[in-house]
Amino acid sequence: METLLLATRNRHKVGEIRGILGETIRYRVLTDWPDAPHLSETGRTFAENARQKVIQVLHWLDTKAAGVARAELPEGLWVLADDSGLEVDALGGAPGVESARFAALDTGAPGNSSDSENNAKLLRLMAGVPEGQRGARFRCVLALGRWPRQSEAEPLHCFEGVCEGRIGWQPRGSGGFGYDPLFYPEGFDRTFAELGEEVKNRISHRARALAALAEWWRSTHGAGEAGVRS
Ligand code: IMP
Repeated sequence: METLLLATRNRHKVGEIRGILGETIRYRVLTDWPDAPHLSETGRTFAENARQKVIQVLHWLDTKAAGVARAELPEGLWVLADDSGLEVDALGGAPGVESARFAALDTGAPGNSSDSENNAKLLRLMAGVPEGQRGARFRCVLALGRWPRQSEAEPLHCFEGVCEGRIGWQPRGSGGFGYDPLFYPEGFDRTFAELGEEVKNRISHRARALAALAEWWRSTHGAGEAGVRS
C-alpha cells in the first residue's frame, strides 16, 4: 500500500482528497508532524505554487531523514500538494492565486483571510455585474513528487482540473469551504455549498485533477496495483 503525504493544513482539502481517492491508500498529513514546515507560495501560477509546496516538503523530509527522526518516516512515500482558487471573468481572473488572502490584500494583514471576509469582498466587487457576466471557474493544480528522490532533477508530476460556473448574488448553503456558497457550477441552480460533498466530489476542479492523477497512476503503476481510483 502506498503512502500519500498531503502537503496541506487545510482540513477541507484533506477531506475532499480522501473522499475522492478513497481509503485504499495510507494518508499522512503535514499536521501529523509538529515540526513540519509552513509552506510558502510565492508563485504567479497555481502550478508554480503546487510545485513549490512539494519541493519544500521533499527538502524537509530529506533533512528529517538525515537526523535521528528517520524512524518517524515511512520508507518511501509520495508528496501531494494542491494549489487552487477561483478565477472570476469580470475581475480579470482575480482572485486567482490570491484566493486564500483576497480580503487581506486590501489591509495588508499577514496570512490568509477568513472565508467570510473573502466572500464579502467578492460580493462587493460583483455588486454591479449583471447576470450574464458573472462567469467564473475554480482551478486546481496538483503536484506529486516521490520521496526519496533519485536525484534533484527527478521531475514532479502535475495534474489540472477546472470547474466552470458563475458567481451568485448572496451566500447560499452551509457545506464545503471557501467560495463554495457563492459558486454555481455549470448545469446546476444550487451552489457547491448547497449541493453537498457527494456532488461536489464528482464534478469539482479537485475531482477532475485527481481523476487525471488516478489515470496517470494506473498507466504507470498498472491497473489493479494502484491504491488510487478515479
Ligand atoms: P491555497 O490553499 O493557496 O490553494 O488557496 C486555496 C483557496 O482557494 C482557498 O482558501 C479558497 O478560498 C479557494 N478554494 C480552493 N478550492 C476551493 C473549493 O473547492 N471551494 C471553495 N473555495 C476554494
